[in-house]
Amino acid sequence: METRTLGRGGPEIGPLGFGCWAVGGEWQDRDGNPLGWGKVDDEESVAAIRRALELGVTFFDTADTYGAGHSERVLGRAIAGRRDEVVIATKWGNSFDEATRTATGAVTTPEHARRALTASLRRLGTDHIDLYQFHVGDAPLAAGAELRDLCEEFVAEGLIRAYGWSTDDPARAAVFAQGPHCAAVQHQCNVLEDAPEMLDLCARHGLLSVNRGPLAMGLLTDKTGAGSRGAKGDIRAVPPSWLRWFGQGGGALPEWVARVDAVRSVLTSDGRTLAQGALAWLWARSELTVPIPGFRSVAQVEENAGARESGPLTAAQVLEIKELLAAPVDAS
Ligand SMILES: NC(=O)c1ccc[n+]([C@@H]2O[C@H](COP(=O)([O-])OP(=O)(O)OC[C@H]3O[C@@H](n4cnc5c(N)ncnc54)[C@H](OP(=O)(O)O)[C@@H]3O)[C@@H](O)[C@H]2O)c1
Repeated sequence: METRTLGRGGPEIGPLGFGCWAVGGEWQDRDGNPLGWGKVDDEESVAAIRRALELGVTFFDTADTYGAGHSERVLGRAIAGRRDEVVIATKWGNSFDEATRTATGAVTTPEHARRALTASLRRLGTDHIDLYQFHVGDAPLAAGAELRDLCEEFVAEGLIRAYGWSTDDPARAAVFAQGPHCAAVQHQCNVLEDAPEMLDLCARHGLLSVNRGPLAMGLLTDKTGAGSRGAKGDIRAVPPSWLRWFGQGGGALPEWVARVDAVRSVLTSDGRTLAQGALAWLWARSELTVPIPGFRSVAQVEENAGARESGPLTAAQVLEIKELLAAPVDAS
């Protein structure tokens, strides 16, 4: 499959990255609600990251706040001594208490950004970040413009290579796109939640479209039942208002199961698993997409990396899926 270039003159990356939210382990908001994906095994996480590298996946997305610093530490440990083989994306904009693993809110000041960058470099064990992303998706445009200019200073200082806004709002993404070293937008996009306006913006500005939630947080996989989604400490077991796929306890909601069932045969054509089909749909939407599925095991990394073998869905399959999803849903 075609590679992508991360910014002008930037590194080549494959069409797939991996997302490191789940490997951050347990953390919570101030009210004790889970923000992580329950317990994870750090040894398995490290093995999974190294397996990804063996399979030629070099792009990893994390954030300072995932596991209140733990995700960055795990990624740093997994790639120690191999920094040149890896393209690291991380994020800033949320404060947290590492000792209690508690998120304490968004902070959009330049002073916080500089402190956060220093801390991320330390946890990751590196002297530069390849893609530094502003994590506060609904921050005011003026704050975004100020932070974009600060990111240009970080580039000039050699601390980051490129930057982007993690937002679902094309108007905000456009503010960052004015900066010469803005290379990407990170945004929600998957079979059940298309993002045509953002994909258009990426095409206009030559930005990579880094896709979070490409598997609808596990809904677009062959896993049935709540399983680990229902476990204590898993955000899907106590879903916040923005998490639309799951109900209390982590079970997938019937209307979403019905939608997945409606498109299953198209996604699993050509011998793909459901997860592989979901990734293939994203590659068919644009040559600039880089889905970053989350993982918690070597097996998930292997299955998802295997999606590259069959390449994108065809345009006809994408159209068929669009038509199937436009039909009324029978969730009985
Ligand atoms: N910028 C932001 O605000 C933001 C927000 C969300 C995510 N992100 C980034 O985007 C990444 C991806 O999104 P996401 O992690 O939320 O959701 P996702 O990629 O849609 O779903 C990942 C989850 O699906 C399950 N899974 C993965 N591969 C599987 C397979 N082959 N078979 C069965 N189950 C599989 C795993 O969970 P279980 O095994 O536990 O089911 C995994 O953690 C994150 O890791 C993070 O880096 C960013």
